[in-house]
Amino acid sequence: MGKINAIITGIGGYVPDYILTNEELSRMVDTSDEWITTRVGIKERRILTEEGLGTSYMARKAAKQLIQKTGVDPDTIDALIVTTTTPDYKFPSTASIVVGKLGLKNAFAFDFEAACCGFLYTLDVAASMIQSGRYKKIIVIGADKMSSLVDYTDRATCVLFGDGAGAVLVEATEEQNIGVQDSYLRTDGSGLPFLHMKAGGSVCPPSHFTVDHRLHFLYQEGRTVFRYAVTYMSNDVMEIMKRNNLSAENIDWVIPHEANRRIIEAVAKRAELPLDKVLINIDHYGNTSAATIPLAIWDNESRLKKGDNIIFTAFGAGFVHGASFYKWAYDGDKVAGAK
Ligand code: UT7
Repeated sequence: MGKINAIITGIGGYVPDYILTNEELSRMVDTSDEWITTRVGIKERRILTEEGLGTSYMARKAAKQLIQKTGVDPDTIDALIVTTTTPDYKFPSTASIVVGKLGLKNAFAFDFEAACCGFLYTLDVAASMIQSGRYKKIIVIGADKMSSLVDYTDRATCVLFGDGAGAVLVEATEEQNIGVQDSYLRTDGSGLPFLHMKAGGSVCPPSHFTVDHRLHFLYQEGRTVFRYAVTYMSNDVMEIMKRNNLSAENIDWVIPHEANRRIIEAVAKRAELPLDKVLINIDHYGNTSAATIPLAIWDNESRLKKGDNIIFTAFGAGFVHGASFYKWAYDGDKVAGAK
């Protein structure tokens, strides 16, 4: 048996119907369409407004579409991993809920938390599981209901985030020169003071005090996080390019985590990559954390061709960061239902 490679063989996605526009936000806090558009590049984001629905609902919808599009037999799925910062519950895992709802009989399931790097890291974990030869088919879902931890009275953060989910099927192949080629993933443990949720974890469990003092929302020192994001993402992209002899000429697409259009533009500029090769959809989804990269794949599937050289890169709370080199494995325009 030859070397086993791990490839993405399909993509499914889901975003809620409700569209929260900059105009509506301008009525909620002291902000404007002009500020949000020029400083961040977001026009609107999707919000899961139905009471009683959480991240697993969006993850399940994305995975259902993935199963439908690929025609994979659900009984052949070996594992399902949900990467999220907004699980339905502290426990059980969101992945266990999704497996139950999808009726997967032969899969084990777990959550993997790496903030906005969730999809980048989890794709690497799933690829390693496939390359070990022990597993053949793994569903990886990046899903976040960011609206569940956003303070809609804080203009500095509430304009940034949205809800959504994207799911990929990762499979084994012996075909060479496609799939996950290389990854450069790192965690810099200095990020805690700048991006976190103060209460609700084991250090500061929920109490009347934490609720009264609004400690259950996302806290961010935006300017500091911005600087780290640009530095790390561009350095990581340049490192992966150097290691794999990649240049602006032979890279087909860059698919970055989407937190701020200005961050993406600065990363492309530092790595000397043209913006028309960068897949950007932050304008209509905002920052959906673990879902940004799979949603960008979902939105652009029909543009991706077998053999395309793709760089993924992400950055998030922790700080987590990295980049990977991936060779696309199928012609997206031949897939029924591809966007
Ligand atoms: O995905 C996880 C990682 N997260 C990120 O990568 C996010 C990184 N950070 C950012 O994208 C940006 O720092 C923000 C978008 C969060 C903020 O943009 P900024 O250009 O860094 O603005 P700032 O925080 O320096 O604030 C500039 C001004 C301030 O007013 P003063 O002090 O200059 O009078 C803010 O109070 O803009 C004000 N401001 C707003 N004004 C209107 C902050 N938020 C808003 C708002 N509308 N929504």
